[in-house]
Amino acid sequence: MVGGNGALYPIIGFASCVAFIYLSFGDLWIDIRTHTKLSFVERNGSQFIVDGRPFYFNGWNSYWMMDHAVDESRKPRIRTILQTGAKMGLTVCRTWAFNDGDYNALQISPGRFDERVFRALDHVIAEANQYGIRLILCLVNNLQAYGGKTQYVKWAWEEGIGLSSSNDSFFYDPSIRHYFKNYVKTVLTRKNTLTGVEYRDDPTIFAWELINEPRCISDKSGDTLQDWIEEMSTFVKSIDRNHLVTVGLEGFYGPKSPKRLTVNPEFWASDIGTDFVRNSKISTVDFASVHIYPDHWSHNPEFEHKLKFVAKWMLSHIEDGDKELKKPVMFTEFGLSKDFEPSQRERFYKVILDITYKSAKMNKSGGGSLVWQFLVEGMEEFNDEFGIVPWKRKSTYQLFTEQSCKLARIQGALPTQMDYLRKLCTHR
Ligand SMILES: *[C@@H]1O[C@H](CO)[C@@H](O)[C@H](O)[C@H]1NC(C)=O
Ligand SMILES: *[C@@H]1O[C@H](CO)[C@@H](O)[C@H](O)[C@H]1NC(C)=O
Ligand SMILES: *[C@@H]1O[C@H](CO)[C@@H](O)[C@H](O)[C@H]1NC(C)=O
Repeated sequence: MVGGNGALYPIIGFASCVAFIYLSFGDLWIDIRTHTKLSFVERNGSQFIVDGRPFYFNGWNSYWMMDHAVDESRKPRIRTILQTGAKMGLTVCRTWAFNDGDYNALQISPGRFDERVFRALDHVIAEANQYGIRLILCLVNNLQAYGGKTQYVKWAWEEGIGLSSSNDSFFYDPSIRHYFKNYVKTVLTRKNTLTGVEYRDDPTIFAWELINEPRCISDKSGDTLQDWIEEMSTFVKSIDRNHLVTVGLEGFYGPKSPKRLTVNPEFWASDIGTDFVRNSKISTVDFASVHIYPDHWSHNPEFEHKLKFVAKWMLSHIEDGDKELKKPVMFTEFGLSKDFEPSQRERFYKVILDITYKSAKMNKSGGGSLVWQFLVEGMEEFNDEFGIVPWKRKSTYQLFTEQSCKLARIQGALPTQMDYLRKLCTHR
């Protein structure tokens, strides 16, 4: 199903691609499963850098990997999805490095960890390394799935030390901040039982993401969340000097960015205690993150309106990255729900991939985009409104692989991609 894709682009393109790869990495044309050593992702101004060169990428989300790796019968799905991603020329995957108090919890209660689940996370990281996939690891959820901030608040409440039962006390209660820091420290200093490498020293990890989609509606000024981000990003940096840090924002503009408010999908978005520019400007935050959910965010049902919104949303954030933040911007989630036809989804994906490609071509701050989300067959209970099995629909598969090849044409391939890209981008 993966081969025989037909022409991905004209023969001229393929010839120059191969020549370029060969010239850049001729002596590294090797078996990727065994020999390639990854290096850390760095940044220079508004660009990500790998091996001294600008790095733009095509990637995906599979939030469920740690959870599945706990169970022997579901564990092979990790390899399946990572191998598929690698074969599609994808280089970055975002996933959860948390599960607080839920089924298969990594953190059972504050400071108590399940070694079985930690070994599952070890496995995910070790496998990703084998396929040359770099991971964005997220440390907690703003939402309730897999525990999230609600679970932390519940713990503090149960132990009789919580200040408030409000979910937002996650951000301001000192005892909860302490719980979270303890969690972060345990994860960052974890020594992988399969590779022997501490997580903080492992270049397979692209970056730490503090929290998935933070919102703090109880303080609309944004000061509470700002303070939390400052403290937590500084804390991560005090333990780990190797890795980049991002917040995990959805990207909404707040009251401190009045010029940008009209870019928000609707009014509510400016009133939830976050501000993309202010939050991302913090010096211990290395790059900005943005999500793209036009059908959930807006009441306007018209599809063409959504596509226009997406373009405006992305270009605005890329401009912020270049002019205001001088940091890379990563589109860490994008999805269109099941209410839309697969062909409409493809048009939506294409707008995003094209803008990312243009950013790469022009050396702009838009560093890469990660689709939400990939699954394998037989995991319907882990699907949401957005999941796709990447090999199920040929035209969708081709859309993503073509992006990988286009990016490789302008920046060359990573040593880890050589083998797969050659197959992918030269197929006729
Ligand atoms: C960093 O970027 C600047 C300007 O964009 C460039 O002049 C410099 O060579 C870059 N440094 C590295 C190490 O890539
Ligand atoms: C916390 O959040 C959950 C869901 O996000 C909600 O059901 C619950 O009512 C919230 N609790 C408080 C105290 O805000
Ligand atoms: C982008 O940067 C690369 C090297 O860092 C350079 O070779 C290329 O010419 C630049 N492209 C543009 C459009 O500035």
